[in-house]
Amino acid sequence: MVDALALAAAFQQHYGTRPRIFRAPGRVNLIGEHTDYNDGFVLPMAIDRETAVAIAGRNDRILRIWSLNLDDFSELDLNNIGPGHHGAWIDYVEGIVSALAGQGLVLCGADIALKSDMGIGSGLASSAALEIALGTALVAVSGETINSLSLALAGQTAEHMHVGIHCGIMDQFISVHALENHAILLDCRTLQAKQIPLNLHEYETVICDSKVRHTLASSEYNRRRRDCRSGVKLLGVVLPGVRALRDVTPNELESHRSVLPETVFRRCRHVINENARTLKAAEALASGDVAGIGRLMSASHQSLRDNYQVSCSELDILVESAEAQSGVLGARMTGGGFGGCTVNLVKRSNFESFRENVSREYQKKAGITPEIFAVRASPGANEITNCE
Ligand code: GLA
Repeated sequence: MVDALALAAAFQQHYGTRPRIFRAPGRVNLIGEHTDYNDGFVLPMAIDRETAVAIAGRNDRILRIWSLNLDDFSELDLNNIGPGHHGAWIDYVEGIVSALAGQGLVLCGADIALKSDMGIGSGLASSAALEIALGTALVAVSGETINSLSLALAGQTAEHMHVGIHCGIMDQFISVHALENHAILLDCRTLQAKQIPLNLHEYETVICDSKVRHTLASSEYNRRRRDCRSGVKLLGVVLPGVRALRDVTPNELESHRSVLPETVFRRCRHVINENARTLKAAEALASGDVAGIGRLMSASHQSLRDNYQVSCSELDILVESAEAQSGVLGARMTGGGFGGCTVNLVKRSNFESFRENVSREYQKKAGITPEIFAVRASPGANEITNCE
């Protein structure tokens, strides 16, 4: 977690006023990868890594923003928000500001300091945490209100319009709506969410950060979306009424395989089976079948690697070496892919040996030291009120 007291002190020293502090969490997706933008199902939980925003309103329309992580400053005029696409952190700020304005909110100027304890681009949705923390903070100091779904959608709009990633809704939704000790089964078509207690018995959720982020991540992400859209179009000809891959069953896909080019077929196969796995995993979680979730997670990784082709050698090494350890029920890449993190279900008493062995293996095969840590399911965005 970010040290809110230290952030408030740094803010006060820099700007000379006392801030309010807001935070929003990152997430790990247990299962349901690359399904959100196909109207499908996801099962994420928010984690105890976050972005915090110290903020004090101003009487003008200027935002002064200080990123403590990057030790970088920027200034924006709310009357003149640019179109983004600088390829820099300020895109997220411009994006959320203009998405909120687009919803009719009138924001005031503010002095802002940002601090995150997540690696930028580590695949734990640090950008969604930034959008949601900042959105929550700006709305509050402006004396405006916003409902939680509109806030999540504003974060997604920021990514689409100002960052240039056509992401789904998962990351922003969980960052707003998460409950402590729960995962959310989200239907990304209806946006209906089911909070499921995260009862993993003697197991815990462990993240392995590969420390790599390949540059093709965003271009390949947008390309996968296009592949899925052409799958829908081609399948729609033989299966009237299909609006998204969500509407196609595994059997229908197999029987209409011939209408799809091989690559598109593989993309569709991943998404359609991943939706089924996610619903099964949610049932397994609700009924306490932790081993069942683990098996589904491992199947998900294989499909992401072979059908959707968004894994990379570093993630595969982490998953393989995790699965060779005792006390591991399942392991998979999580998030968009091409680097970032894996998520693992590890017996609590095996955590230390897991960390040592996987680190050693990864160091030997990839030449990189990973970061390995257990996470707790944390609550969604809020104001931190006890940092006076
Ligand atoms: C990124 C996107 C999400 C989702 C995942 C893949 O994290 O932001 O919307 O599509 O990739 O499941």
